[in-house]
Amino acid sequence: MKTVSFVSKKGGVAKTTSAIHYAYWLTLNKHIVTLIDDDNNRTASNWAERAEGNDKFEVPFKIASFRSMSKAVAGADYVVIDSQASRTDDDLKDFAEDCDLVVIPTKPDINSARAATETADAIKKHGGHYRILITDVPSYNTTGSELSEDLVEDGYLLFERTIRRSEGVNHASLAGTTLKQMAGAYRRAWRDYEQVFNEIAYIIGKP
Ligand SMILES: Nc1ncnc2c1ncn2[C@@H]1O[C@H](COP(=O)(O)OP(=O)(O)OP(=O)(O)O)[C@@H](O)[C@H]1O
Ligand SMILES: [Mg+2]
Repeated sequence: MKTVSFVSKKGGVAKTTSAIHYAYWLTLNKHIVTLIDDDNNRTASNWAERAEGNDKFEVPFKIASFRSMSKAVAGADYVVIDSQASRTDDDLKDFAEDCDLVVIPTKPDINSARAATETADAIKKHGGHYRILITDVPSYNTTGSELSEDLVEDGYLLFERTIRRSEGVNHASLAGTTLKQMAGAYRRAWRDYEQVFNEIAYIIGKP
């Protein structure tokens, strides 16, 4: 079994968006997945409830709370954890020790980036594996690539691909679907996520 968590000390950096898309991508690749909604706001669970309300998309993986994790992961070959923000150092130690990879999303602003590097420092300190994922990157300026360069220069590990800013994310979330079910330009960020998930597969190997 492989375990991948989406973690940052900061809120609103696309942890849930990325975790849901990763869980979905894994099922498209014929894996059995349990998504752990480790957030009191139950964002991932609420998304799945919206999916129940439409006939276009059926959530192809199990979603369970952190409390019921030990039972819910039975039979899964991947466990994806959507963490809540502001985790303590002890929590980060658990993620470092228990996950094959900790994905640390950040938006291209200084506060998110600082939270990402603090999170990465903690994961590294506790002997874990991580990659920083730059998300919500606007196409009309260079903030995404500047941030990538700065982080690489400071010795941090990043995914090669970044996720573009897309209205499709909000549309998919509202409908309880994913970027893959979007049409036209709204679907483009799905390609970015596919590249990133292939990078994850390469890093962690097969279950
Ligand atoms: N690529 C993107 N383009 C546009 N908007 C995005 C993108 N990624 C995420 N968002 C938006 O950013 C907001 C935060 O995303 P999300 O809920 O996934 O973050 P989070 O880190 O899980 O937040 P929280 O800490 O509250 O759990 C949402 O409104 C989401 O739709
Ligand atoms: Mg969330």
